[in-house]
Amino acid sequence: MTTPHTIAVLGLGRMGGAMASRLAAQGRDIVGWTRSGRTPAAVTSTGDPNEAVAAAGLVLLALFDAPACRQVLDRVRGSLRDDTVIVNTATVAPAEAAELARRFGPSYVHAPLIGSVPAATAGDLRILAAADQGALARARPVLDTLGTVRQVADAATAAALKLIANNSLAGAVLALRDSLRQADALGLPRAQVLDVLEHGQLGGLVARKRPFLLGGPTEATAEFTVGALAKDMALLAAASGTPLRSAAGPAAAPEADIAVAATAPAVAEAVLEPLRAYARGHATGDPAHFRDAFLPTAHIEGMRDGAFVSWRLDEYCALFPGEPAPDEPARSRRVDAVDVHGTVATATMTLSHGADTFTDVFLLVRADGGWRIANKAYHRHD
Ligand SMILES: NC(=O)c1ccc[n+]([C@@H]2O[C@H](COP(=O)([O-])OP(=O)(O)OC[C@H]3O[C@@H](n4cnc5c(N)ncnc54)[C@H](OP(=O)(O)O)[C@@H]3O)[C@@H](O)[C@H]2O)c1
Repeated sequence: MTTPHTIAVLGLGRMGGAMASRLAAQGRDIVGWTRSGRTPAAVTSTGDPNEAVAAAGLVLLALFDAPACRQVLDRVRGSLRDDTVIVNTATVAPAEAAELARRFGPSYVHAPLIGSVPAATAGDLRILAAADQGALARARPVLDTLGTVRQVADAATAAALKLIANNSLAGAVLALRDSLRQADALGLPRAQVLDVLEHGQLGGLVARKRPFLLGGPTEATAEFTVGALAKDMALLAAASGTPLRSAAGPAAAPEADIAVAATAPAVAEAVLEPLRAYARGHATGDPAHFRDAFLPTAHIEGMRDGAFVSWRLDEYCALFPGEPAPDEPARSRRVDAVDVHGTVATATMTLSHGADTFTDVFLLVRADGGWRIANKAYHRHD
């Protein structure tokens, strides 16, 4: 059994560049190719991917997504040697991974990566490898140079596990964003907040991403981009058929580092205005605030005494006496969540009114320059 001698690295972006540099630094014979032609300093490259793979016993793919993998593999297929092993490190959907494995058969190793550019540079990646034993044995010395291999049953499973790993990263970024927004709302200094968060559950993320989290312009280069994470979350939501909080995509430029998404400002004040008017309506009992809050066409819907009710705005306003409830000082209301998507938004509020707790779910639209509630549905908790 021979170890592939020359390694073709196709895709010299963040991960491809770091892996090619690592392999070259460890004495491997590397020939790189990337669509744009840019090349890391220590890596020999060619402008023709066919030339790269013709010389190689192992082809390492570090391309953005499955369409890119298919395009590049189709382009070089005729130049691949019979004994060449293809190692694909891209994060793709389970079905896409299974399809690539089927097309390239026993010479295909699906090998998504846990870890980012620093881990690739240090040879400290975790590699979820799925392949026939023969191909994996041939790829192993190269993979061992890049990190630690965890063998997985098949390509689809490796791809699915990688998406789950990235979902936990997306969740951590959103948790960090929530903490930074709350801290900003309390007027806390960002550096002090990061010092404290670094000692908690998000410590590793905060420590690694601190330059991006300080809020100002940063010289640091994005290691893992918002666009790549959004791609992965969209793949996961589509594959699982199960909604996930981060699927709508983090609010930052696609080329920004994922940590920049954690610094996205809280929702604009304007979208909170109708929700505040709604809360004022309850606090004062004055229906004029509801007319400010809702569109005239709004309906207020929910279950009341076991029957579904759908009030028009006039009917709803008529329920209020024009003065505060006697126990108003003991009542409380809070906005739990707001999600804005351009000119539409959803929001959830909790109202504690004496013995009753209500969950109100709102659909909002931005019309005539301002936000209004288009509809409300509510649940009265037992
Ligand atoms: N960055 C990370 O921390 C990280 C960690 C684990 C896994 N991953 C995954 O690893 C893969 C690479 O990520 P990356 O961060 O290195 O991305 P990247 O910096 O954006 O690099 C993507 C590479 O794909 C090439 N490419 C994109 N579309 C192409 C197409 N249609 N045809 C040919 N080449 C194409 C780009 O070529 P040019 O730029 O030369 O045009 C570039 O070489 C992705 O699947 C990502 O999800 C990333």
